[in-house]
Order: sequence, then C-alpha cells, then structure tokens
Amino acid sequence: MIKLHDKYFKPFVSAKEIDAALDKLVMEIANDVGDEIPVFVGILNGSFMLTSDFVKKYPKPCEVQFIKLASYEGLKSSEDIQRLIGLTQDLTDRTVIILEDIIDTGKTLAEVHRIFKNEKVKALKIATLFYKPEAYKKDFKLHYIGIEIPDKFIVGYGLDYDNLGRDLPEVYQIKETQHMTNLVLFGPPGAGKGTQAEFLKEKYNLIHISTGDVFRFNIKNETALGMLAKSYIDKGELVPDQVTIDMLNAEVEKNTDANGFIFDGFPRTNAQAKSLDELMDTKDSAINAMIALEVDDEVLVKRLLERGKTSGRADDADESIIRNRIKEYYNKTAILKDYYSAQNKYYGVDGVGSIEDITKRLSAVIDNL
Ligand code: IMP
Ligand code: MG
Repeated sequence: MIKLHDKYFKPFVSAKEIDAALDKLVMEIANDVGDEIPVFVGILNGSFMLTSDFVKKYPKPCEVQFIKLASYEGLKSSEDIQRLIGLTQDLTDRTVIILEDIIDTGKTLAEVHRIFKNEKVKALKIATLFYKPEAYKKDFKLHYIGIEIPDKFIVGYGLDYDNLGRDLPEVYQIKETQHMTNLVLFGPPGAGKGTQAEFLKEKYNLIHISTGDVFRFNIKNETALGMLAKSYIDKGELVPDQVTIDMLNAEVEKNTDANGFIFDGFPRTNAQAKSLDELMDTKDSAINAMIALEVDDEVLVKRLLERGKTSGRADDADESIIRNRIKEYYNKTAILKDYYSAQNKYYGVDGVGSIEDITKRLSAVIDNL
C-alpha cells in the first residue's frame, strides 16, 4: 500500500502485466501498420512513460510526437481541457496513432479529435493502455485497448494524483476505505481485555465490536439477522458463521468513517478468521493485528477468585471452573495464534502490571503497525 498526499492506494496492475499489455498493443499495431512509418503521438503528461516503453518495443521505424493537454484536477476529470502544447509538425497523409495512458470520460479524446479535424492525415487511430468502459461517455472508436479497468482512480506508470505517483513503475488503485487499524483482541478470562479495549477505543478512535453485544443488540431489536440468529439459538444450534459475519458487516458498514475496529469475541475458528479477512477485503481493508494479552494462569486464577468475592459471578467463585475456562481459552486460541502468526500478525503482550503499563505496551504494538 502507498500514500500520496491524503489518499491511500493499493497495488493494482504489476509492471509485468503492463509489459504484457504493451506487447499486445505493439503487436496489434505493428500488424495493422505494416511497412509504413507511423507517427505515434503521446498525450502528455500521463503518456510519457507509456510512449517511451512503447516505441522501444515497436519493431520497425516510427516517429514520436507529443501534444500536451490538461484536464484532471485531483481525482476528477474537469470540463475544460487545456491545450498546452499542440501539434508542431505537418502530418498530412501520415498514419497517426494516438498513445493515451488512460481513457476515462473521453473528454480529452474529444479534444484530440478537434485538434486533428483539420489535419489531412491518412488515418487517425486511438490506442490506450487503460480504459474505463463504465466512465466513457463518447462514441469515438478506440482502436487499440490495453487493459480495461473499473471506474476507480488509479496512479502510477505516468498517471498522477495531484502530480504524485507518475514515477511508479506499476499501477495502484485508490482504496475505497482509507487506512484503518483493525485489531482482533484476545485475552484469557481475567486478562483485562474489556478494560484495555475501552482505553484503545478512546486513544485510537476505534469502534469496539464485541460479538456478544452485537448478537444481543440484533436479537433485542429483532433485526432480520437477529431473528435468524435466534432461530438457531432457540433450536440449540450454533449460529452459522455467515449470519455472524453479516452482522459484523452491518456494524462495519455503520462506521465506515472509523479509524478502525477492535474485534472482540470473533473470530474463534480458522474458518471465521478467513471470513473476517474476506469481509475486511471487501472494504479494501484488512486485519492488521491479533493482539493477545498474556497473563500467567496462576495470576488469572488469583484475579478471578478475587473478582468472584465481590462480583457474585458463580463462574468466578470456583477454582476448578476458572482453570477449565482458562484451559479452554488456550485450546481455542492456539489455532488462531497459528492463523495470524502465519500472516505475521500475531502480537503477544504481557498483561501483568498496572492498567497504564499494559495500555502502553499495547500502544507500542499499535503505533508500529
Ligand atoms: P478523460 O478526458 O476523462 O477521458 O480523462 C483522460 C485524462 O484524465 C487522462 O489522460 C489522465 O490524465 C486523466 N485520468 C483519467 N482517469 C485517471 C485516473 O484514474 N488516474 C489518473 N489520471 C486519470
Ligand atoms: Mg493523459
């Protein structure tokens, strides 16, 4: 991922794929042109890199010219195209092939056609490396197309975002969701997960998604997903992962401006971890870290027995029940530890010490993500 000005971009078309697209364009064009010497006209600024690579690949003699037009402001194609440098050569009876980096709305192309209207060229052909069919609003024929892409802003290989990114040898696509910090928070019972989640939520402006709370909310408010989940629970069956994921998706959707999410109580299995990755991927985002609070069993037992004295929670009163819950936690999380370790996203954090000290340790991990 890269950042240009205020926006984040993700890898989209590799240098290798661009190279292959160029090979294809060169072959098609060389075939059609035959032995004639064509004039390739690059549209500056965007097509400088394409034009250079293209003519190096072109197998026969050719001429190279440029015209310079400007239309884009930031992320939007603007109405009026400025003609900064026009034609400087007589092209009467020549086969002219326009080399465009990208055709979006087609406004620039309309200007190109205006420029050539009074030139008595033999043929005017349009070649473009990238083409956004969903954005194209004109009906000028596009003779040669490298790669069709969705209507999303891209940078690299000559294309810029407010002048940055032209130098990149590969192409990046704008991220729909801007940079997020998404955490999966784990900790055995008594580790202080809830307390720490509260601090992290405040400090990093994250949304805390506790699966338990999400379930209770949906069931209480009788949402469609809540009713569906309840139908399984009432039958004594496990709620299918997809239902849970759909609920989490709804939570994520409600908070698309968030700096990120803390997932608490989910995932619990490999399959769920994969589904969560897929969900974040559809948001152009990802889980950045699984953070597990590590606390020695004996300390946990002591803490929970202490809590049991005042909380009145039956499961906090009995040492063997406590030990069993801790054991179960490790059985369950071992799989997830492996899952996230394989992606280099597992962070164990020492959960013994003062609340502030532990928050500091967690922050050190998050600040380095
Ligand atoms: P059109 O006039 O709307 O077809 O846009 C063509 C020009 O806009 C191109 O030559 C680029 O300079 C610019 N452009 C269009 N789409 C993009 C993009 O996704 N990234 C960067 N520049 C773009
Ligand atoms: Mg251009």
